[in-house]
Amino acid sequence: MQDKIILRRLDDMHCHFRLDPLLTEVLPVTAQYAGRGIAMPNTRPRAILTRNDVLWYHDEIKRVLDRTPNRFSFEPLMTIEVRDITTPRIIINAWQAGAVAGKAYPLGVTTNSNEGLRDFFSPKISETFKAMQDIGKPLLIHGELDLERTLVTKREDVFLPTLLKLAEKFPNLKIVLEHISTKKAVETVKQLGKNVAATITAHHLCLTLNDVIGYGIQPHNGCMPMPKDFDDRDALIEAATSGNPKFFLGSDTAPHSREKKECSRGACGVYSAPVLPQILAEIFEKAGHLDRLEDFTSRFGANFYDLPLNKDDITLIRKEWTVPEQIGSVVPFLAGAKLQWQLVS
Ligand code: DOR
Ligand code: ZN
Repeated sequence: MQDKIILRRLDDMHCHFRLDPLLTEVLPVTAQYAGRGIAMPNTRPRAILTRNDVLWYHDEIKRVLDRTPNRFSFEPLMTIEVRDITTPRIIINAWQAGAVAGKAYPLGVTTNSNEGLRDFFSPKISETFKAMQDIGKPLLIHGELDLERTLVTKREDVFLPTLLKLAEKFPNLKIVLEHISTKKAVETVKQLGKNVAATITAHHLCLTLNDVIGYGIQPHNGCMPMPKDFDDRDALIEAATSGNPKFFLGSDTAPHSREKKECSRGACGVYSAPVLPQILAEIFEKAGHLDRLEDFTSRFGANFYDLPLNKDDITLIRKEWTVPEQIGSVVPFLAGAKLQWQLVS
């Protein structure tokens, strides 16, 4: 039995690094094992909407990295939020400042989406998507819609026609459907062209809705999109471990303080960064595809974003450990559970 895994540094194509003080707490955790991480723009009080925001947030992140002992070779990949007011000029300026993608949150579907996109097909936003298509920069989508008489568990399903229509209207636009949670989403992404891909989180590979509300309410497993049914989880595992380059890692590691999770109207988000490569190794091993782990974590995402592969490696060894109940102010994913692989620094 293999007792060591040497893995190219990860590309985590979906991270919430937040702003200080949380930024200082969580960024070094991802930087330990990832060569790059996409910094999501839904920060508060300052959201990342323009070139100036991109430059400012990049500096904030660099400042924390510079203070991190050991520093690691970590590069943040910046994004801006695409709202109804986002013009082609804003997009072009942001790329020139180093942003690698634009992220669209439909209105009201998740944390800090209160000013999200209202209409994916307005003439104005179509110009913006066209500009993204022309310069070859991806549109990242939180693929859910909060429609009337639509349960939270159906929000991804009801978004899929919008994805199909976007793919038809912008046949060369690179699109990433983020943190997919259903079998239908897997099938839809598979059927579309090479320019449409999806990220998959570790927690959606582990959880079903039962783990959120089935045995008492477990706020630390609560996230958007909500984990779904067993068939959905099976389809996600199949997609992640299949070697299909359309599916790659985006952990959606989304820390919120314990107080913000354990209250009425607790925040949505799973803080998976402290267990990410370890639990992925376990999942891929269980599926019999440890040999495909590096494709998922460190190759397919880079290829989609036209980035060179990370050069350095990390090492995992087979050695049981228990995930701490709390790390700093946040309860990590799988708190208290025993995991089989350890990251050695
Ligand atoms: O669970 C989630 N948390 N899903 C998201 O899309 C956003 C994230 C957050 O920012 O906390
Ligand atoms: Zn997210």
